Amino acid sequence: MSFLSIKNLKVRFDLDGQVVEALGPIDLEIAAGEFVCVLGESGCGKSTLLRVLAGLQQPNSGEISIDGHVLDGPSHERGVVFQRPNLLPWLSVRKNIALGYQVRGENIPKQTMDEIIETVGLTEFDAAKPSKLSGGMAQRAAIARALVYSPKLLLMDEPFSALDALTRLRMQRELLYICERKNLTVFFVTHDIDEAIALGSRVVVMTKRPGRIGRIIQIPLEHPRSRRGRDFIRLQGLLAEELSDLIDPVIASPIQEYEKE
Ligand SMILES: Nc1ncnc2c1ncn2[C@@H]1O[C@H](COP(=O)(O)OP(=O)(O)O)[C@@H](O)[C@H]1O
Ligand SMILES: [Mg+2]
Repeated sequence: MSFLSIKNLKVRFDLDGQVVEALGPIDLEIAAGEFVCVLGESGCGKSTLLRVLAGLQQPNSGEISIDGHVLDGPSHERGVVFQRPNLLPWLSVRKNIALGYQVRGENIPKQTMDEIIETVGLTEFDAAKPSKLSGGMAQRAAIARALVYSPKLLLMDEPFSALDALTRLRMQRELLYICERKNLTVFFVTHDIDEAIALGSRVVVMTKRPGRIGRIIQIPLEHPRSRRGRDFIRLQGLLAEELSDLIDPVIASPIQEYEKE
């Protein structure tokens, strides 16, 4: 049985009477422990899909079940990380990470907290305010905050796309380490082909809006993955082709004309 099951999912938005079909229908099964990357052009519905899985957006049709339970609103059993870390500037790193517990009037066990802070490599900065953190460190705090309730599923929406290239590579490596250590199933949205190949056990390529599953590509490479390896480069080409097939021909044609000159 799959860990995460999405059946006939559709989302549309009503903008002052104008209906925008944003997503679907989508059917997808994800096994426990998989690292699924969702790749697609801007506006194809990736964030909408992630928000539905997080329980933050109600779908218009379809059913989602996670670990045998039908999804019904947000739950701390799913950790969510967005592009921006969204830390509260007046709280220390430690207090930001513990926020979910604090909001519930609960105390996070000190050992759990120490272990999470150590896992994301922020032990020496746990008393610092967010303004003292680099972009990568702030995102590590956001990951820690998503992990405090020991979720089995981690939902990530372009979590590294605002980081510089080197930090992004480092964060990708660290994320793989965290996922292995915590035995997580990951649903990772990105528009970056290399990131999808570096991280995913499968890459789901979405069509343009309304986003559907265009193709699913297995990444049968061991970690650590060499970006210079033949298989990596072959997958880069394959995914670039898949994505360029999705570009609207009206937009693509002036570029082709330009290339002919
Ligand atoms: N809350 C909303 N209200 C109206 N339209 C929305 C809303 N959220 C997203 N959309 C529209 O749905 C489509 C998919 O958006 P989104 O999921 O953010 O795409 P992506 O993350 O792939 O860039 C876009 O056309 C976007 O404008
Ligand atoms: Mg998005």
